[in-house]
Amino acid sequence: MDFQLTEEHLMIQKAARDFAVTELLPGVIERDEHQKFPTEQIKKLGELGFLGMMVSPKYGGAGLDAISYVLAMEEISKIDASASVVMSVNNSLVCWGLETFGTEEQKQKYLVPLASGQIIGAFMLSEPEAGSDATSQRTIAEDKGDHYLLNGTKNWITNGNSASVYLVMAQTHPEKGSKGINALIVEKEMPGITIGAKENKLGIRGSDTHSVMFQDVKVPKENRIGEDGFGFKFAMKTLAGGRIGIASQALGIASGAYELALKYSKERKAFGKEIAQHQAIQFKLADMATRIEGARLLCLKAAWDKDQHQDYTLSSSMAKVFASETAMWVTTEAVQVHGGYGYVKEYHVERLMRDAKITQIYEGTSEVQRIVISRSILS
Ligand code: CAA
Repeated sequence: MDFQLTEEHLMIQKAARDFAVTELLPGVIERDEHQKFPTEQIKKLGELGFLGMMVSPKYGGAGLDAISYVLAMEEISKIDASASVVMSVNNSLVCWGLETFGTEEQKQKYLVPLASGQIIGAFMLSEPEAGSDATSQRTIAEDKGDHYLLNGTKNWITNGNSASVYLVMAQTHPEKGSKGINALIVEKEMPGITIGAKENKLGIRGSDTHSVMFQDVKVPKENRIGEDGFGFKFAMKTLAGGRIGIASQALGIASGAYELALKYSKERKAFGKEIAQHQAIQFKLADMATRIEGARLLCLKAAWDKDQHQDYTLSSSMAKVFASETAMWVTTEAVQVHGGYGYVKEYHVERLMRDAKITQIYEGTSEVQRIVISRSILS
């Protein structure tokens, strides 16, 4: 067993760290405050290859492994989780799904611009009444011979307004339940699409989360991914990889908060010495570092499973549940270490604490991860 990162891994980690510090840190507080999407920064991330990291160069991607993706996600998320969720959705949910299950025509038409960062994508599974219970799709894709007629509403859609291409799950054969669902590639410009107001969120406020309504949207048959009825399995398989991305985002939020707390504890003095010299703070730092290392190892293990073409359903859910709970705990402790300063925006840790919460909710709540884990260990 080798825990050593390769030269290439270290280079990617450094490139992501440099980008985060030089391009994302300036303005991150203002973007959060004003819910401003990081348009320029996402464009640059795309130009550097961070939006199609694992896609083959044949389709405009960087051709890297999942370990590299975890490393980059951690570094970007330390500074700006609003940018890293865009990166995660585009890489794991949209590009991976298209590259793995799309036809050659679909890849040429949609994957190439998505992987090279010319456009970004969105993944549409959640509905007003279908969150964790994802089989209960109310959005209908009626089979009309050469096309599907799409009607319904999707909720909580990351990149809901900024995406040009959507992967939409919709029910075609309600009598077949989860086996009647299809995954369709939908273009934002297709007639009949309305984008709802931007959600005013607790965290990841720079990302754009919207509901999206479809009314009689004609989607050509050739835009279906896989066989008729493959949509639910497509979504589940894709989400397993998405969970590696969100676990790594949670890891980055936790390690970003920890680094700030560590630095602050060596600067701030109380009772005649640096607060890092007080055991009450030392124990907090020790626990933060230990939990973060556990989360990092789980993220890298899930990525390694993926790179080895082994099943990563279990390891990605374990990584996500542990890393997201670590992020919530570590960021709360980081605010505590900062005292009153932690409660104001200038010190960044309150934002990281707000951002951490979503990692326990999206791409499967902590409860859903426990369902996936328990099913796997009991089967
Ligand atoms: N991989 C492959 N197939 C899978 C699977 C997986 N991980 N999980 C389930 N399936 C298959 C099952 O094998 C079954 O097929 P068969 O009948 O052929 O055996 C079929 O799918 C139906 O499975 P279940 O009956 O087990 O489905 P369920 O309704 O009980 O679902 C669940 C289980 C784990 C709770 C699932 O619904 C789930 O993961 N829900 C959460 C959904 C989610 O993560 N939503 C997030 C939305 S996306 C998002 O947040 C993106 C963003 O913008 C950031």
